[in-house]
Amino acid sequence: MFTEIAPRYDFLNHLLSLELDRVWRARTARRLRPIMQRRDARVLDLCCGTGDLAFALARSGPAFVVAADFSHAMLVRANAKRAGHTGSTNSDLTVPAGFFEADALQLPFADASFDLVTTAFGFRNLANYENGLREIRRVLKPGGTLAILEFSEPPPGLAGDLYRWYCRKLLPKIGGLLSGNPNAYKYLPASVARFFRPDELASLMNQVGYGSVSYELWTLGSVALHTAVKI
Ligand SMILES: C[S@@+](CC[C@H](N)C(=O)[O-])C[C@H]1O[C@@H](n2cnc3c(N)ncnc32)[C@H](O)[C@@H]1O
Repeated sequence: MFTEIAPRYDFLNHLLSLELDRVWRARTARRLRPIMQRRDARVLDLCCGTGDLAFALARSGPAFVVAADFSHAMLVRANAKRAGHTGSTNSDLTVPAGFFEADALQLPFADASFDLVTTAFGFRNLANYENGLREIRRVLKPGGTLAILEFSEPPPGLAGDLYRWYCRKLLPKIGGLLSGNPNAYKYLPASVARFFRPDELASLMNQVGYGSVSYELWTLGSVALHTAVKI
């Protein structure tokens, strides 16, 4: 599915979120700036898609950023963006250092490799959330940070109801029409509805061995940023 929508993925992201997706990723990068400012920090952006969070992170500090996704078509786009970046060279730390084709549930990285692992709008798609959290924990250094940016269902009320109407009725129609894949944009609201509530995800993170778990809700509660550290 992600491979099929890759050609129009960025365009539809910006259109369907009314450009808010850029704000959410930029805000995430700002929250993680203290780590990104460390020249020795190693960062992995998982389920990176076309790389927008990885680029936002790389711009926010000199830390070394790599990114991974299992969709080859998404990575082709990410690499094209990287190549198109003015002045990008292999030693340019304002762009991600590399994009890897890898399954988030079975990462090709050694234990304790990263100071920060991020994932934006990808974690919800994993086949097994607990295994995903364990695999991320494996590749994090002790004390390393995990940041998960994900959609969330806003609480009931006028704003929440309006959001649900938009996501369930309008978004699948526009997304289906413009991407050529009607199912992908039906899958989006359905997968958000069956995903954890923010407090449920926080408690799973605690159970799996993360500490200092916290989250903030943005845009009427439609997006949550969870952060935690490996203990
Ligand atoms: C909704 S896109 C998000 C892309 C990007 N992070 C962003 O902010 O736009 C979800 C991505 O997760 C990837 N993905 C889903 N399950 C995965 C897995 N098990 N391993 C690696 N990538 C996965 C998909 O290929 C897709 O590119």
